[in-house]
Amino acid sequence: MKVVFVCLLLLYTVWALPRVDPLVETKKGLIRGLQATDGDYSMFLGIPFAKVNASNPFGPSLPYPDFDDVFEANDDTAICPQREEFNNQLVGTLDCLHLNVYVPNKATTRNKLPVLVWIYGGGFTIGFAGRFVHGPKYLVKQDIILVTLNYRLGPYGFMCLDTPEVPGNQGLKDQLSALRWVKQNIDSFGGDANKITIFGESAGGVSVDYHLLSEQEKLFNQVILQSGTAQCPWAVADSDRSTPLALAKRLGLDTDDVEDALKFLATVEPNLVVAASLEIPNRFVPCIEKDIGVERFITSHPVNSPIPKAKDVLILTGYNNQEMLVPFVNRPISSLSLNTFRRNLAMMFDLSDDEELESIVRQFYVGDDEVSEEIRWDLMDFESDYTFGHPVHRSLHKYLENGGRVYHYIFSYAGGRNFVKYRNNVTIGGASHADEISYLFDVAIFKESPSEEDQLIIDRITTLWANFVKYGDPTPETTDLLPVKWTPITKDAFTYLDIDRELTIGSRPFHKRTTFLDLFYKANKHLLIANKEN
Ligand SMILES: *[C@@H]1O[C@H](CO)[C@@H](O)[C@H](O)[C@H]1NC(C)=O
Ligand SMILES: *[C@@H]1O[C@H](CO)[C@@H](O)[C@H](O)[C@H]1NC(C)=O
Repeated sequence: MKVVFVCLLLLYTVWALPRVDPLVETKKGLIRGLQATDGDYSMFLGIPFAKVNASNPFGPSLPYPDFDDVFEANDDTAICPQREEFNNQLVGTLDCLHLNVYVPNKATTRNKLPVLVWIYGGGFTIGFAGRFVHGPKYLVKQDIILVTLNYRLGPYGFMCLDTPEVPGNQGLKDQLSALRWVKQNIDSFGGDANKITIFGESAGGVSVDYHLLSEQEKLFNQVILQSGTAQCPWAVADSDRSTPLALAKRLGLDTDDVEDALKFLATVEPNLVVAASLEIPNRFVPCIEKDIGVERFITSHPVNSPIPKAKDVLILTGYNNQEMLVPFVNRPISSLSLNTFRRNLAMMFDLSDDEELESIVRQFYVGDDEVSEEIRWDLMDFESDYTFGHPVHRSLHKYLENGGRVYHYIFSYAGGRNFVKYRNNVTIGGASHADEISYLFDVAIFKESPSEEDQLIIDRITTLWANFVKYGDPTPETTDLLPVKWTPITKDAFTYLDIDRELTIGSRPFHKRTTFLDLFYKANKHLLIANKEN
């Protein structure tokens, strides 16, 4: 009798509380999450995966200790120090190396689901993983597990001094720690540790590419790079020993001793350090690490790096059809300048006193025209190509040369939820940089539910991405939703999917501009700064 009674009680309890807080046992200890209210999934928010070294916050992060008690994973608000883009406020703390895991209710240890891990963009100076931008409901609806992770930014993530204390790429190594955590622990959540895709946009895409290039162990099976690869001219800089001195000086300590400066900076409020970092010309982006006896992440210039992983990792990559639209729409004519050609080319090429190189590119895009309203969009095309489109195109070639299987897309849709256009009140033109993000994630700045037309794009892009995650093929079969077959590129057939109101298959996007830049790079390979350094 007693046994039956206990069973009944148990049944009753389970029945009466259909929403039990999910509790998961991981290698790091017990983690309790929350049931979501906007879908059939649970959320594990703000799980710490690494710890910043308080006496050297600019250096490599340390392992996070195992949990003694149940870790209550209910807070996704941690944000690494930065001046964030929504309120323009200096925010964040160094206790920010957290990740979030979103698990469809149907995932179990017997029914493991594939895993998709997001690395945010933001020029390596801004960004955060929380639901304000990365609402998970569209992606988890596709029966995949979504992970979003934080990494350090600006001076804390990307100071590069060629010393064991600050070897460089700390932010990328934070990501690496998070990916190791996912590989080790995701099966406790019902995730398939042998089916992991990492994806990112802009600096996040660059990061994904560096994970592909790096000689570290392979922690993923597939990658998605949106509008950013390591071939971007802004994706790499030299080490710079003057950075801590410049920061310390702005904050009141005049010294020429790097160690003194670092010791001092470790005691300063992170918000003040970030503020100072925005006032000096020094850059905070990935760098090529010297061999100084500590773990290295980037060991050679991305322009020259082989990509051995490319043949074992499926790749999906593309960009938006008017990447630089928003910066160019409202810019007064007086701020447009033909100097953009020299300034941009100098990021990759040794122009020395060669006037001709610059004029060839200028003539291709704008002829002999002076700055006027007429050439606004030509200048936009140049910057879109040079900064985003052509780097992705060069990466496609590199992946192919290394035996990669690559799906290529162009995102052209201009609807009601284009992230960056919406925020800047831009209604004309195509898809600007980062506009696609709000069709993958439920971004909190959109208060109303999507229009029918926007919802269709959400359904399409999340299904394409999820099919790739699940099957390694974005269109394993044609359906009403996805009526076209999207095939990988080959050397002779540079096919791509145009994601717009209609889905269409094209070949060689922007082929005139792209081929011009192909020729330009080929003819001037010897002038690439990357090649001169070797
Ligand atoms: C933290 O940084 C300090 C200063 O560089 C270093 O001496 C110490 O070994 C680091 N801690 C660990 C656990 O690595
Ligand atoms: C967009 O329009 C809104 C409402 O008119 C305004 O408050 C906001 O400042 C505008 N944003 C930009 C970036 O112009």
